[in-house]
Amino acid sequence: MAERWTPDSWRKKPILQVPDYPDRQVLADVEKQLATFPPLVFAGEARRLKKQLARVAAGQAFLLQGGDCAESFAEHGANNIRDFFRMFLQMAVVLTYAAASPVVKVGRIAGQFAKPRSSPTEKRDGVELPSYRGDIINDIAFTPEARIPDPRRQVEAYRQSAATLNLLRAFAQGGYANLASVRQWMLGFVKDSPQSRRYVELSDRISEALGFMQACGLDLESHPELRTTDFYTSHEALLLGFEESLTRIDSTTGDWYATSGHMLWIGDRTRQADHAHVEYARGVKNPLGLKCGPTSKPDDLLRLIDILNPDNEPGRLTLIGRFGAEKVGEHLPALVRAVEREGKVVIWSCDPMHGNTITSASGYKTRPFDLILKEVRSFFEVHQSEGTYAGGVHLEMTGQNVTECTGGARAISDADLNDRYHTVCDPRLNAEQAIDLAFLLAELLKKERSARGEPMPVAAGL
Ligand code: PEP
Ligand code: CO
Repeated sequence: MAERWTPDSWRKKPILQVPDYPDRQVLADVEKQLATFPPLVFAGEARRLKKQLARVAAGQAFLLQGGDCAESFAEHGANNIRDFFRMFLQMAVVLTYAAASPVVKVGRIAGQFAKPRSSPTEKRDGVELPSYRGDIINDIAFTPEARIPDPRRQVEAYRQSAATLNLLRAFAQGGYANLASVRQWMLGFVKDSPQSRRYVELSDRISEALGFMQACGLDLESHPELRTTDFYTSHEALLLGFEESLTRIDSTTGDWYATSGHMLWIGDRTRQADHAHVEYARGVKNPLGLKCGPTSKPDDLLRLIDILNPDNEPGRLTLIGRFGAEKVGEHLPALVRAVEREGKVVIWSCDPMHGNTITSASGYKTRPFDLILKEVRSFFEVHQSEGTYAGGVHLEMTGQNVTECTGGARAISDADLNDRYHTVCDPRLNAEQAIDLAFLLAELLKKERSARGEPMPVAAGL
């Protein structure tokens, strides 16, 4: 029998990646205050997402999850959120139309603030300071004061998440996501890019299809699925005091839900079965993600699946592989076989970012676009040969025209990285690279689905 779970039962377990708060009283006060704040999301929304993810697990939809590596307080603005949302819709429409697959849309947004670090300290020119752990914990400036963890940042992160979510809800439901606007989602700087032609062609075909439906007498205005979309939020559940404060009982079911975001995931560094992060996650009913990497062993993974999804509920658990382009073919098949052998229902998603990070000659942390594509291709190949579904992708990307990942249609070089390298943590795909990737995904998905010989369910809308 599993031990009793409570929102604070994680506190009795060993824990990694915790900030060292100098003032425990301020921390306790902040957590108490957060516990009185309204939830950011509702349990019913998390349940709806889980249902949609169950379709992904059954190979009837595709999961698109992505956003910043780390959101920042300094870059919180309407334009950023709007451009991100536009890019996301473009990617989704490419997948929905070109691969005829419904797309479940989950942003790494409105709560993605806490970062696990490989090293607790950072050294620059002989000076060693505590590492930056995300804006919810400390400040990125390289000074001793900035790097002191400050609990009050949690309140700011909560408020930023609320404001971001408010705008996302407005965009998703208020008309911005209308399929008739598919052409207008194109971002200014993408317009003169090589992908823009493909995208314009696709949007013309969609407009024609809508025109045809209208001419046949279909009243498009009476179909909300053509004007609105479901957009969900997700983040790594790393800062557990914050998560605990926002863990609430859903009055309609009596179940506990994390209300800081719709979907939470456990990172590659904090997925020990007997540790705090797994303990926290097992008790909330939200859909969960679990990062898997080259160090994931089949038996450990099966144990984690039993803890996190004991009832084998479809849509509950997404396994997010982040192996690296050269390693995915070597490690993923064993995990897939073990999971299949035990009859566990999971979603297989591919994070082609975190296993492909290198340091450029100019000293920037970067990711070659070709390696990202290669990992995605290998991921599809593995699932094709194992007879399982390539369920989704998990990306770090921004709607801004940054130069953080090398390669892509504009062949960003090492020397170009310095131009617009803005990330506060890991390098992200820019909008052009992300849309380029969406076209590749659409091709792979179409091939996979036709090889299966099953007709895709007709996508009602975006
Ligand atoms: C991340 O998703 O930003 C991250 C840190 O990933 P991982 O836990 O897979 O290293
Ligand atoms: Co990252």
